[in-house]
Amino acid sequence: MPTSPEVLRRTGGRQIASIVYDEAAIAGKVAELGAEITATYPDGDLLVLGLLKGSFIFLGDLVRKIERPLQVDFLVASSYGAGTTSSGDVRLVYDPETRLEGKHIVLVEDIVDTGNTVRRLMGLLRERHPASIAVCALLDKAEMHGPLPEVRFIGFRAPTAFLVGYGLDHAEDFRHLPFIADLM
Ligand code: IMP
Ligand code: MG
Repeated sequence: MPTSPEVLRRTGGRQIASIVYDEAAIAGKVAELGAEITATYPDGDLLVLGLLKGSFIFLGDLVRKIERPLQVDFLVASSYGAGTTSSGDVRLVYDPETRLEGKHIVLVEDIVDTGNTVRRLMGLLRERHPASIAVCALLDKAEMHGPLPEVRFIGFRAPTAFLVGYGLDHAEDFRHLPFIADLM
């Protein structure tokens, strides 16, 4: 199907193969995840930790669906190594100011692909002795990685296509799209 003029206006003429998750589907899923997180943490301090930049829109919507007290902070990780596949190395380029000790941490990721980012970050964050730590990922490319029990809250099992929008980028473009699309 040809890309609609309305979408082309947002992408600057770049064609997309399809809209994989539209605004309504995303909103419904985010509400479900918020309810699940609310129910999982009946007490204790909850810190929602967004991994930038990809999680910025998702986190903004998600925290408004969590009906209990919480705090928000962010971290910026950088994986170095060449190419488009993620290397094993992850380092923090912005480290949250907030103390993690004794708190329930929900690390919010846009998408889990090989799982390298999540695995490395969990290792780093565990050293700070949180009460518990879980990952909430809007999208999970489950075929791309082995078991990842830390990824406790999952929105959609994503196809292995390259997805953009709702925070996800291709070379920093398309993060602002209100839907998630498969790039042509
Ligand atoms: P992982 O370390 O291989 O799990 O890679 C996770 C990171 O790769 C995500 O936080 C995204 O920034 C990026 N990524 C993986 N798949 C996609 C995609 O389909 N679209 C946009 N970014 C992606
Ligand atoms: Mg990215």
